[in-house]
Amino acid sequence: MIFSFQTSIAEARRNVAHLRGDGLKRSTGDIWSIKKLLLLDYYLPSFKLICSPKYNFKEWYYVDPFCGSGLFDFTDKSLKNEVYAGSALIGAINASKHDYTNCILSDTNKENIDALNRRIGASGIQLNSRTYQAQERGFEDTVNMVLRTKRFGMAMLIFVDPDGYVPIKWQLMERLVKEVGIDVIFNFMTYTIALNASASKTNHTHEKNLNEFFGDVMWKQHLTTMNKNNLGSKLLLYYISKIQIASGKNVIPIGVHREKGKKLYDLLVITRSGAGTKVIQTAKKIMDKATTESIHREFKVQSGIQKTLF
Ligand SMILES: C[S@@+](CC[C@H](N)C(=O)[O-])C[C@H]1O[C@@H](n2cnc3c(N)ncnc32)[C@H](O)[C@@H]1O
Repeated sequence: MIFSFQTSIAEARRNVAHLRGDGLKRSTGDIWSIKKLLLLDYYLPSFKLICSPKYNFKEWYYVDPFCGSGLFDFTDKSLKNEVYAGSALIGAINASKHDYTNCILSDTNKENIDALNRRIGASGIQLNSRTYQAQERGFEDTVNMVLRTKRFGMAMLIFVDPDGYVPIKWQLMERLVKEVGIDVIFNFMTYTIALNASASKTNHTHEKNLNEFFGDVMWKQHLTTMNKNNLGSKLLLYYISKIQIASGKNVIPIGVHREKGKKLYDLLVITRSGAGTKVIQTAKKIMDKATTESIHREFKVQSGIQKTLF
C-alpha cells in the first residue's frame, strides 16, 4: 500500500474543510498530536483488509472510547488558521467505506459529543451517506459494552487516546487485549507516567493511580532509576511485557517526541496478526521519519505559509 504522511495530512485537511466555520467546540492539540492520527490513518485500511470477508470475517468495527469533538486546532500560533480531523472523523470515514465496517464513538464530555454528532450530520459526503451516533460514556462502560457486543467473526480496532493514564486501569486493559480479534492502539504517556512515578514515594495519589494502571506494585522496582528518561523506558518495557504475557499478542511501540527531541509518549500497537505486525513495522519506519519538525513544515507548505519544504 502506498502511503505518505504528506498525502494523509492533505486528505485529513480536505475531509474537514467544510467544518472550518461551524463554531462548535474544538479540541486543541500540538503539532505532535498529528503523529498518532497519521498512524491511525495508516493502519485502518490495512487492518480492515486483514479482517475483511475475504479472510472470513463478517464484521469490523472502529472503536474510539476517547473520541473528542472530531475537529481540532493548534496551540502553535503559526498554524492558527488550521483545523485537522480528530480520530473520531478519521475512524468514521474509514468505517464508512464498506458494507462490513462500522463504528462506535464515545467520550465523557457532553460538549464534545454534541459537537461531534453535529459534525457527523454535516459530513454526509465524507461518510458515504452513513451516520453514527456518538455517546456520552466513560471508558469502563465502553469496555463492558464492547466485550458484550463482540461476536465470533467480528474484529475491532480500539483507539485508546486518553488525556492521562488514570482511566486506563489494568483490569480494563487486560480484558480488552485478551480478546481475540481486537487490536488496540494505545497512547502510553511515557513522560507523565515517569514523572508521577518518580514523585510517588511522597504523593500517594500518584502511587494509587499507578498501582491501578499497572495492576500490581511491581512497577516500583524501577524507581531505583533516577533519570526520568530511563525510568520512562523501563516502565514502558514493563507494561509491554505485561500485555504480551496477558494476551500473547505482539506489541510494537512507536515513540512520539516533542520538538527538540524530548520523548512525550509511545503509541503501542497491540495485534495478534502477523500481517498487521508487518504493516506496523513499516509504519514505524515511516513514522520515525515523520518528525514533529517535518510535520510542522508540511502543514506550513499545505496551508500556503511556506512555499517549499526546504
Ligand atoms: C486526548 S483527548 C482525545 C482526542 C481524540 N482522540 C482526537 O483525536 O480528537 C481525550 C478525551 O478523553 C475524554 N475523557 C476523559 N476521561 C474519560 C473517560 N474516563 N472515559 C472516556 N472519555 C474520557 C476527554 O473528554 C477528551 O475528549
